[in-house]
Amino acid sequence: MKLIFLGPPGAGKGTQAERIAERFEIAHLSTGDMLRAEIRNATPLGAAAKAYIDRGELVPDSVIIDMVRERITRDDCKNGFLLDGFPRTVVQAEALAEFTDVDYAVNIDVPSERLVARISGRRMCPDCGAAYHVSMYAEPTCRKCGATLYQRDDDREETVKNRLKVYTEKTAPLIAFYEAAGKLVTVDGDQAVDAVTESILKGLGA
Ligand code: AP5
Repeated sequence: MKLIFLGPPGAGKGTQAERIAERFEIAHLSTGDMLRAEIRNATPLGAAAKAYIDRGELVPDSVIIDMVRERITRDDCKNGFLLDGFPRTVVQAEALAEFTDVDYAVNIDVPSERLVARISGRRMCPDCGAAYHVSMYAEPTCRKCGATLYQRDDDREETVKNRLKVYTEKTAPLIAFYEAAGKLVTVDGDQAVDAVTESILKGLGA
């Protein structure tokens, strides 16, 4: 199974990707998590990416495409993978189609007025990448691995506004791209977390 998750910042892509990847026993590949790991490890790629991420801009296509092309050749992707946050531009989608074929693109649809509240209340685990919302889990440490949770730098209000604008301009056109390819599954992301998971599984025929 090869899946793509589409949706605006804060739609719940990461939250759902973790559950769906576990269900299908496939690798969960979040390009955002990969870039944040590069920044934490102070690599040249991380240093270059940080300036874009902090402004809420997209990292250049060539960098991301090379990163994903290499990542999906690893052993843990033999059974399939779920791409969370890639592709994000038509150029990325066209490049992906050249190196692999995906089964479905799942579009998690959430009204824009809900997104800022979701993002501003998010707390992340630096070690395992789990995301929480303060309204659902208010502890300071990760429920799964015990690491101290933190708030992402790009979750500040001004940056969030730009991320939403960039999403509308550059990523939303992918909905029509995958619809034309007959691969689009759209689910209502404005429901409880479990209900969204059920809708995705139903949309995938599982
Ligand atoms: P990335 O990390 O991919 O961020 P994003 O797409 O902006 O998405 P988010 O992680 O903000 O949200 P999410 O949809 O995963 O929501 P979550 O599940 O956490 O990318 C960050 C940056 O990296 C980009 O801006 C860009 O610079 C760069 N980048 C990454 N990929 C790139 C690419 N391909 N090309 C170029 N640049 C790239 O949920 C959000 C919150 O809501 C959480 O608190 C969660 O607990 C809560 N929540 C989740 N579901 C529900 C629900 N059903 N009800 C209520 N609350 C919920």
